[in-house]
Amino acid sequence: MDITVKNVCFGYNETNVLNDISLNIKSNDFVSILGPNGSGKSTLIKCISRILRIKQGEILIDGRNINSFEARELARTIGYVPQFTNNDNNSTIYEILELGRCPYVNWRLKNHDREVIENVIESFGLQSFVKKQFCQLSGGQQQRIKIARALVQEPEILLLDEPINNLDIRHQIDVLSLLGDIVKQKNITAVMAIHDLALAARYSFSVMLMSNGRIVDCGDPAKVISKDNVKDVYGVDVEIIKHKESLLLAL
Ligand SMILES: Nc1ncnc2c1ncn2[C@@H]1O[C@H](COP(=O)(O)OP(=O)(O)O)[C@@H](O)[C@H]1O
Ligand SMILES: [Mg+2]
Repeated sequence: MDITVKNVCFGYNETNVLNDISLNIKSNDFVSILGPNGSGKSTLIKCISRILRIKQGEILIDGRNINSFEARELARTIGYVPQFTNNDNNSTIYEILELGRCPYVNWRLKNHDREVIENVIESFGLQSFVKKQFCQLSGGQQQRIKIARALVQEPEILLLDEPINNLDIRHQIDVLSLLGDIVKQKNITAVMAIHDLALAARYSFSVMLMSNGRIVDCGDPAKVISKDNVKDVYGVDVEIIKHKESLLLAL
């Protein structure tokens, strides 16, 4: 499904945090949203997931205004992985994954719902975790559970807010390449806020660069993550070095 954002403005108070944002994310894209702290990445993701209601402009999913989606329908369409969650949660991993089926179930889980959960457990390698409590896991393990839970929802659009925070390099790579594979195999569209420019360039299919609530540039990572853009947006002088499929930023 594609996402169109048209002239969206949003502010938590009088000041706008998103300033007349317009963008189009094509179906099956895996997009990184980049930009300094406070540039509006989380706010934009929350507006697209309808956690925040926009006051100006419109957001369309496959041409349809998100305001016209009924709550369960929206939950079957969009999976949202927040940046922070309550780590005191003492539910087991299996119970958390079961909650991902809420948008489909009226009373109790059916065989098909269990199959969906089992498939996600297998693809994320969570077999040894299922009986553990969420609060007993490390930050990185919790992060993987949050992504797994969103996938149990079988969304067509996956929105992730800094999904690789707290992860070591091995798990960062595992999560990002898994997300890329899922986008291709399940024909979904994924949008994530991320700080690591090199990992965004390597694993997402396209990138969007934000600054002060505006989109500064978007498109191919190799075009957007340029010496000039990094200087303009982050105020940092870097040399960009291409190595195989990766971009390296030298200070
Ligand atoms: N709940 C909130 N209430 C008031 N201001 C907020 C709230 N959340 C974020 N902001 C402000 O909105 C701006 C954008 O924040 P955010 O979208 O979180 O940026 P990013 O995710 O790029 O770091 C910042 O100036 C931040 O202080
Ligand atoms: Mg944020």
